[in-house]
Amino acid sequence: MQIHPTIAGLRAALAAAPRVAFVPTMGNLHDGHIALMRQAREHADVVVASIFVNRLQFGPNEDFDKYPRTFENDCARLREAGVDHLFAPDEKEMYPTPQRYHVEPDPAHTDILDGAARPGHFRGMATVVLKLLNIVRPQAALFGKKDYQQLMIIRNMVGEFALPIDIVAGETRRADDGLALSSRNGYLSAAERAEAPRLNRQLRRIGERVAAGERDFLRLETEAVAELAAHGWHPDYISIRRRSDLHPPRSGDEALVVLGAARLGATRLIDNLEI
Ligand code: PAF
Repeated sequence: MQIHPTIAGLRAALAAAPRVAFVPTMGNLHDGHIALMRQAREHADVVVASIFVNRLQFGPNEDFDKYPRTFENDCARLREAGVDHLFAPDEKEMYPTPQRYHVEPDPAHTDILDGAARPGHFRGMATVVLKLLNIVRPQAALFGKKDYQQLMIIRNMVGEFALPIDIVAGETRRADDGLALSSRNGYLSAAERAEAPRLNRQLRRIGERVAAGERDFLRLETEAVAELAAHGWHPDYISIRRRSDLHPPRSGDEALVVLGAARLGATRLIDNLEI
């Protein structure tokens, strides 16, 4: 695997690449990322990953400084997964001057769910993703479904800017007890780690009830919030939405997803399930 700290170096290396699939990450790679790398191989001859912890998408009180940086380990995992090129810029390379131009996603997509608790997060995310896509110029880019709202916003951005890139979704990878793999799981204490799968269990329960014909969504959501709160969680939301824009479903909307976000101790966990 070639490692490129600069845009020029990466572009030179990819100049003759016939078809490129790209997986952007912020590092601290887990099996979910590695599954995306392997999936990327099905879409292209050349697989490019990036590692860049993007300051723009962190709020002032969020974990930018604390975000785990495990570069050597990540490189070993990427090599093992057969990734061809890693773009690993430092902040000066990505933001040589403070970024003054930003992607401004539709507030109807950003000010809901995760965006409500993280103002500016999706603007910073979309800005760096557009920049990374311009740097790498892939034919396909892969994003995990675990960050469902992120995936929805990227699909809309790529569609509205007519970028010639296939956005491919990767299924969420889970531990045996159902906990969605996430770089932030490492923040959990042993007791919190044992409690953490409850979020996924609540989402699955909702999925089962909806599949069985239950249509009182508010009741299902309220029950799940109460159940989490009773076990020491601080839920932000448990919400059944339509998949296309993550707005509340209208009667007849069939393609639904239930999303949840809740704090366990100091760690905020998110998960979702298409239902
Ligand atoms: O999902 C992530 O890790 C990040 O939001 C992304 C897409 C790499 C942009 O920084």
